[in-house]
Amino acid sequence: MTKKDANKMWGGRFDSKPTDIMQQINVSIDVDARLWPHDIALSKAHAEMLGKQKIITKKEADTLIDGLNKIEKELQSSKFPFRPEFEDIHMNIEARLKELVGDVAGKLHTARSRNDQVATGFRMWTRDAISDLVAEIEGFQTTIKTLSKKHAKDVMPGFTHLQPAQPVTLGKHLDAYWHMLNRDKSRLQDCSKRLNKCPLGAAALAGTPFPIDRDFTAKKLGFDGPMENTMDAVSARDFVAEFLFACAQAGLHLSRLTEEIIIWSSTQFNFVALSDQWSTGSSIMPQKKNPDSAELVRGKTGRLTGNLVQLMTMMKGLPLTYNRDMQEDKESAFDSYDTLKLCLQVMNGALDTAKFNTDQMLQASEDGYTTATALADWLVMELGLPFRDAHHVTGKIVKLAEKKSCKLSELDLKDMQKIEAGITNDIFKVL
Ligand code: ARG
Repeated sequence: MTKKDANKMWGGRFDSKPTDIMQQINVSIDVDARLWPHDIALSKAHAEMLGKQKIITKKEADTLIDGLNKIEKELQSSKFPFRPEFEDIHMNIEARLKELVGDVAGKLHTARSRNDQVATGFRMWTRDAISDLVAEIEGFQTTIKTLSKKHAKDVMPGFTHLQPAQPVTLGKHLDAYWHMLNRDKSRLQDCSKRLNKCPLGAAALAGTPFPIDRDFTAKKLGFDGPMENTMDAVSARDFVAEFLFACAQAGLHLSRLTEEIIIWSSTQFNFVALSDQWSTGSSIMPQKKNPDSAELVRGKTGRLTGNLVQLMTMMKGLPLTYNRDMQEDKESAFDSYDTLKLCLQVMNGALDTAKFNTDQMLQASEDGYTTATALADWLVMELGLPFRDAHHVTGKIVKLAEKKSCKLSELDLKDMQKIEAGITNDIFKVL
């Protein structure tokens, strides 16, 4: 190995370049390339600040910004030459800048490090990802709201233990998901609020002796202000954990909805049918129409939970400040964002076009003695029975209906009066 083989970006004290295998584990450009819009934006803000603070000349700052604008165009039109020998997105952009504007490109890295750079870019990415996911959630909420209004009066059995419990309406059942999604949304927004402080200016970890203006860059990049502690700034990744948890929890909510759709679309339940567009057939059984869209979304929950566990396990026990382990912080976040977005879009489409079999739902709510609690409540309210006694009386009435293989509403008043003499014809109103 000769000295010229060492890395051009940081190889000053290196006599040889890394081995091919070292290179393989070192390189992250395939993953972090998608941080480019944020890396360009923060580099432009940094260059402008350096010029404003006279750390570099105004002319130099303009040259850097012009070069970054050119690179931005290359990236937008997929003409940017991504090269693994430059490790990550930050070095790729800087190396390209040098090709476009010459040695002055080396001044861009004054008063900053990749540590504060990546922390800043990643916070910006997460902020954007959150606002995008919030929009997707809101879209899905609108679909759910429309459906729950449409089915506000359609009676169905409400379940506990997956046993028919009490009659509810389909509208109310769906509305429960609207509320879950609303909390998912607020969790994401909360995460976005907390992460919105700027690490830039923390440099490697200790700050920098240059007279930088951190308020300027923070404001320029849409942050509420600079992060107070530079060591925390470069090493905090709890914002990623929060983001991943919020995604995992939203996915978990979706998995409950999908589970219901899967059960409801079985021949046994027959409460709902997904449209052909959101179902698939079987290669062997011609009669089958499977709710694959819902099953796939249910399956994705594992990824979302796994991503959270990956990030938290990777961060556990890391000493301050930046450690290279932390390069493993992005893939999970990108995957959770992509996955949750896709799942929300699938569920939105699948639900929007689903046909609910409201006759069957009504029928089922009559089948499972689901009005028994209403009967017990009537005994308390009308006859003044203590609830425990009313519960007991109702149990006997249900047993009677079971014996006669009829619905509660089909029982004879006289038979019920043999169990509790005070019962009147009014009871049929609640049955
Ligand atoms: N690609 C790196 C990461 O994502 C950038 C930071 C590199 N910093 C360093 N000290 N090697 O973590």
